[in-house]
Amino acid sequence: MILRTPRLDLREMTDDDMPALCAILQDAETMTAYEGAFDDDMVQAWFTRMRDRYRDDGFGMWAVVLRETGEMIGQCGLTRQHILDEDVIEVGYLFNRAHWHRGYAVEAAAASRDRAFTLLGADRVWAQVRDTNIASMNVAIRLGMTVRGRFVKHYRGVDMPHLAFAIDRQQA
Ligand SMILES: CC(C)(COP(=O)(O)OP(=O)(O)OC[C@H]1O[C@@H](n2cnc3c(N)ncnc32)[C@H](O)[C@@H]1OP(=O)(O)O)[C@@H](O)C(=O)NCCC(=O)NCCS
Repeated sequence: MILRTPRLDLREMTDDDMPALCAILQDAETMTAYEGAFDDDMVQAWFTRMRDRYRDDGFGMWAVVLRETGEMIGQCGLTRQHILDEDVIEVGYLFNRAHWHRGYAVEAAAASRDRAFTLLGADRVWAQVRDTNIASMNVAIRLGMTVRGRFVKHYRGVDMPHLAFAIDRQQA
């Protein structure tokens, strides 16, 4: 177990989580900000990258498990990113659509943010959000983040304007 919140457990993903991971990454509506659903190869590459991050960094996007049912309802966690010319720690969050609007994303992301400050010693934690992704912006704002800059990400052949949100250690 990596993190425990009032309703959720966060832990590393395993092969057994593949169906739950597919339900998130292969849902077109969930993946709107990523320019649509992932195919099987993209899901496998995502999973492998997360396993590599656990091994190399000791953290990554973790499985978010609803303690009441044991179901994996999302992914949330920390990754190394390069944002606005800086090597930074980002908090990320993607949830199964059936579990949106219950506060789970903020609950998991707040615990991940705090972990970055306490255990990793980060001075600032970031969230990069596509400028069309209002739900994600709301999570970042609820984490106490503010917009620090803008940039364009090139992904899946598309130019995607992004906002760089962040919170500093002394604001947390
Ligand atoms: C981004 C994403 C995780 C946000 O999910 P979400 O369900 O909106 O966020 P939360 O789980 O924190 O829920 C917040 C909502 O729950 C409501 N809520 C209900 N019960 C609550 C509770 N007990 N505690 C807190 N909030 C609660 C809040 O009022 C808020 O309502 P609103 O959506 O009307 O503003 C989700 O939209 C998603 O997975 N998107 C696809 C992937 C993605 O784009 N990820 C971000 C990439 S940058």
